[in-house]
Amino acid sequence: MRILHTVDTLREALHALPRRALVPTMGNLHAGHLALIERARRTGAPVVASVFVNRLQFGPNEDFDRYPRTLQRDAEQLESAGCDLLFAPDEAQMYPQPQTWRVLPDPALAGVLDGAARPGHFEGVATVVLKLFQLVQPTFAVFGKKDYQQLLLVRDMVRQFALPIDVIGLDTVRDADGLALSSRNGYLDPAQRARAPQLRAALQRLADTAAHCADLDDLARHERDATQALAAQGWAPDYLSVRRRADLQPPRADDLGAPRRLVVLGAARLGSTRLIDNVEC
Ligand code: PAF
Repeated sequence: MRILHTVDTLREALHALPRRALVPTMGNLHAGHLALIERARRTGAPVVASVFVNRLQFGPNEDFDRYPRTLQRDAEQLESAGCDLLFAPDEAQMYPQPQTWRVLPDPALAGVLDGAARPGHFEGVATVVLKLFQLVQPTFAVFGKKDYQQLLLVRDMVRQFALPIDVIGLDTVRDADGLALSSRNGYLDPAQRARAPQLRAALQRLADTAAHCADLDDLARHERDATQALAAQGWAPDYLSVRRRADLQPPRADDLGAPRRLVVLGAARLGSTRLIDNVEC
């Protein structure tokens, strides 16, 4: 596997790879990322992974500074997973001037849920993802469904800008107790780690209930109950919400009971660690 740190060497190396599958990451890789690499390999195209902790998508009081940087271990894991090329730029390479031009995502999609809880987050994500797409010019790009809203937003951006990229979404990889794998799980102390699967369990219960809701008022009541129940377990929820899979808007009456229309999404803080997860229903 080649490891490249500059835009010039990346462009040079890409001449030899007419088709590529890109897996963008912020590093601190775990089995969820390696599943993305494995999925990218199944496209048959050479696999390019990027590792870049993108300042633009972190709010002023978020964890940009303490986000784990583990490039050497990441490179070893990527190599063993069969990645062909690792692009690991520093900030001066990605943002040689202040990135004053930004991608402004559709507020209908980017202003709800995590977008409402983390103002500017998806603008930062869309900006770096578009830039990575420009640099790597991939045929395929693979994203995890754990970041469900991010995946929808990237798909929408690709559609609206007519980018010739096939965006592939991959199911969330979980630990045996149901906790979605995430770099931020590393912030949890052992007692918090033991309680962390409560978030997924709450989303699953809400998904099971949503499938049988009589009407939208009933659904709203179950959302409130689920949020309060998680708070009673010591979490600080940002939201637990049932949404339409297609556009993340609240369901309409005819969505209730229809198969494969809805997704339950949640974000909540356990101590100082903010976790997100979702369950399709
Ligand atoms: O999902 C992530 O790790 C990041 O949001 C991404 C897509 C690599 C952009 O920085």
